[in-house]
Amino acid sequence: MDFVLRFNLPIVIVVFQIVLILAWLEANDAKAQERRFQSGGLDGRVEKVASHSCIHDQILEQRKRPGRQVYSVTPQVYEPGRSKPLQHKGRALLGVSTSSKPSKDEKKPIRIYLSYDAVGLSPDRDCQNVGDMVKLGDPPITSLPGLPSCNPLANPPTLGDCWYNCTSEDIPGEDKKHRLRKALGQTADWFRRALAVEPVNGNLRLSGYSACGQDGGVQLPREYVEEGVSDADLVLLVTTRPAAIWTTLAWAVACERDQWGRAIAGHVNVAPRHLTAEEEASLSATLKHEVIHVLGFDPHAFTHFRDERKRLRNKVTEQVMDEKIGRAVTRVVLPRVVMHSRHHYAAFSGNFTGLELEDGGESGTSGSHWEKRLLMNEIMTGSVDTRSVVSKMTLALLEDSGWYKANYSMADRLDWGRNQGTEFVTSPCNLWKGAYHCNTKEFSGCTYNREAQGYCPIQTYSRDLPRWAQYFPQANKGGPSLFADYCTYLVAYTDGICTDTNSAPDTMLGEVRGSNSRCMASSLVRTGFVQGFTTQGNGCYQHRCINNTLEVAVDGMWSMCPQAGGSIQFPGFHGELICPAYHELCNTGMVVDSERCPRACNFNGDCVDGRCHCFLGFHGHDCSRRSCPSNCTGNGLCLNNGICECKTGYTGIDCSTAVCDEQCGLHGGVCDNGICKFRCSDYGKYTCQNSSTLLSTLSVCKNVLGNDISGQHCAPREHSMLLKLEEVVVMPNYHRLFPGGARKFFNIFGNTLCEEAAKRLSCWISIQKCDGDNRLRVCHSACQSYNLACGASLDCSDQTIFSSKGEGRCTGFDEVKEEEMKEWRKMIC
Ligand SMILES: *[C@@H]1O[C@H](CO)[C@@H](O)[C@H](O)[C@H]1NC(C)=O
Ligand SMILES: *[C@@H]1O[C@H](CO)[C@@H](O)[C@H](O)[C@H]1NC(C)=O
Ligand SMILES: *[C@@H]1O[C@H](CO)[C@@H](O)[C@H](O)[C@H]1NC(C)=O
Ligand SMILES: *[C@@H]1O[C@H](CO)[C@@H](O)[C@H](O)[C@H]1NC(C)=O
Ligand SMILES: *[C@@H]1O[C@H](CO)[C@@H](O)[C@H](O)[C@H]1NC(C)=O
Ligand SMILES: *[C@@H]1O[C@H](CO)[C@@H](O)[C@H](O)[C@H]1NC(C)=O
Ligand SMILES: [Zn+2]
Repeated sequence: MDFVLRFNLPIVIVVFQIVLILAWLEANDAKAQERRFQSGGLDGRVEKVASHSCIHDQILEQRKRPGRQVYSVTPQVYEPGRSKPLQHKGRALLGVSTSSKPSKDEKKPIRIYLSYDAVGLSPDRDCQNVGDMVKLGDPPITSLPGLPSCNPLANPPTLGDCWYNCTSEDIPGEDKKHRLRKALGQTADWFRRALAVEPVNGNLRLSGYSACGQDGGVQLPREYVEEGVSDADLVLLVTTRPAAIWTTLAWAVACERDQWGRAIAGHVNVAPRHLTAEEEASLSATLKHEVIHVLGFDPHAFTHFRDERKRLRNKVTEQVMDEKIGRAVTRVVLPRVVMHSRHHYAAFSGNFTGLELEDGGESGTSGSHWEKRLLMNEIMTGSVDTRSVVSKMTLALLEDSGWYKANYSMADRLDWGRNQGTEFVTSPCNLWKGAYHCNTKEFSGCTYNREAQGYCPIQTYSRDLPRWAQYFPQANKGGPSLFADYCTYLVAYTDGICTDTNSAPDTMLGEVRGSNSRCMASSLVRTGFVQGFTTQGNGCYQHRCINNTLEVAVDGMWSMCPQAGGSIQFPGFHGELICPAYHELCNTGMVVDSERCPRACNFNGDCVDGRCHCFLGFHGHDCSRRSCPSNCTGNGLCLNNGICECKTGYTGIDCSTAVCDEQCGLHGGVCDNGICKFRCSDYGKYTCQNSSTLLSTLSVCKNVLGNDISGQHCAPREHSMLLKLEEVVVMPNYHRLFPGGARKFFNIFGNTLCEEAAKRLSCWISIQKCDGDNRLRVCHSACQSYNLACGASLDCSDQTIFSSKGEGRCTGFDEVKEEEMKEWRKMIC
């Protein structure tokens, strides 16, 4: 009898789809986890500004719960006409490009497609009428003992896992929907100018395996999955569901990535109660903030960041014990982030190594925001309001992902910390200088950017502050913001804002308020008056920068200031005004500094202690010259402008990186230099687990696991899912590999052999071994001996599942030697 089973690739794909569908089945069967919410900080002003407190960190914590799939991978086509082979040899000899085709890594403005299909679509999530009861967050399906139960009468519910009684404010009427579309449209527009991306060729393809996003998410519309989305690099699925926290205007999270790890789909929710005319300005800042999370400011996205070669970065952040600050801090050490931080803070010393992330005073639970102590009103700190600005550091972080090219002229000016030197970023804040530090309530002065007169907000807490935040002899004293590490710096008086024409100037001091007014130290007082009890020793005075000189006006009289600052006097006034230095108010952006580098290294390199360290692809003492790195490593053509045009199959600045087969993404892998990487942690509900743990639930795989008792295997974390693993993943795979089971197509001896081989292979495919975090590919020999034992022709060369012939690191070495197998086959036939 000559019976041959024909297996081909799609069958193996099905195997993996089962694994993914399992994730979806289990998506709601999750344990509630207590969440911690922090209150926003104070950032230099105390006037009432609605500020958005971002819950991205909490959402990420939730997504790590068992049963939750973090995202799925859907590969995209990037190379136009990639099937056409490149006539490399002839062209390389001539040294000219005969191709009119754009260079493969050319980036184009990002096309964000906004989908409103899901607005108001979900009856158990969207408020339609007052009094509707809708789900907030992710209420557990079954209440679990020991957890707070859902109380629908709590008003308002403060935790996500609860039901909510809709009020009129939660219903997105036409005016609110209109406001939302306008704000999101402007946001997409802003990103089109700010970021460029390698454009997706043809339609953007989405998998839609599971609901996209958080709190029930959004099911992708059918046509998005079947036909894809034209003219898009990223799809944002918008919902308008109420948010659990009143101060949360919106939240967003990525849900699908391409084979390079870039987000291609995300879920954005905007709470209808904040879609008011008054909050339009903060909404606009909030949406930018949230979309930046989707694009890459997200600890999970960090694990996919790429360098210039398009290889996975080995270091995005570093966690170090900082002796000076007195605790562990997490810093972003990406090259462009460091470079732009140096220019912002004037921190050109090697002592500055990276820009700190927010930890809310503790470590572990966060990592999605910049440290407020260092970046204050930057848009990617944990609270956002109308004064938030996008700094170059945030754009640099996105560029350092390797997915985008940033347009730095879209960055706003950030004043906090500007030109304060290495000391500012490396020292605890009680050693800061000027307006950045105050230590007595009696003191008043100008705030850091001189836009207001301020005071020192020292608070007395009922408990001692953490040791590292004890800047005062009394351990329970400190500044008002946990996000800003309880630092004490001058904060504006409500009526002390110089640029605010609504607050009355003190005419006795010759003050004027308006857009060009700034706070200056002064003892001026109109002749004939006495300096009063309320006088602060500073006032709001107009300024202008003319002819390389700073001029200030008192009572309409303009006067020139000394270049380095200092006192000047005015007729009709007693006392004097202390001019700021020219560079402080006149936007030169530069202080003379011997540590600075020639032409700022043209922003193509890092500047440390006066010397340029050029990024890959640039050279020269000022990094001004572009060159093909390593002469395009033989895998590409070096164009005259110093840019490599890579051969098909290669990518990266030096063409040294191999692209992966399309199958890689289809199997849930991420491409790293031609190697398809499967990481156990990329599946929200899977972890590396001891064989011993699995042994009790997977009876089918007893032999396989028993032979590797100290090994780690990638399997669901949750017990109920583990119990299902055998039924939903292992057995279906086994039935595919050994169809009919009892059907006798060999003699008894051969049949047993085949059954054993099929069982082993199905176990190895279903619960791959993981070494650290990487799932290992199934050994080539295991596939082959299965083919031999069963007379099958499974494609063992598919390297997204099986190791290469030389084996290397793989799962499921076969116990049966190939030679023996051949002997047996001879006996059978
Ligand atoms: C929801 O709120 C309305 C108005 O406050 C109230 O009349 C109604 O009883 C509430 N529904 C529930 C289920 O609590
Ligand atoms: C970069 O930003 C500037 C300033 O907003 C804008 O004028 C320019 O068009 C942008 N460049 C691109 C390529 O979008
Ligand atoms: C760098 O750190 C060392 C040790 O803390 C210190 O002595 C030195 O002054 C620092 N240099 C700069 C430029 O801050
Ligand atoms: C600028 O300075 C020059 C010489 O110092 C002077 O002649 C000129 O009038 C000044 N211009 C203004 C606008 O003040
Ligand atoms: C780079 O490669 C080209 C051919 O691919 C060769 O002609 C040229 O000499 C090489 N340049 C260097 C600096 O090795
Ligand atoms: C798994 O095994 C390792 C070493 O064999 C051991 O250190 C670890 O505690 C085990 N974990 C569990 C959960 O059994
Ligand atoms: Zn955020």
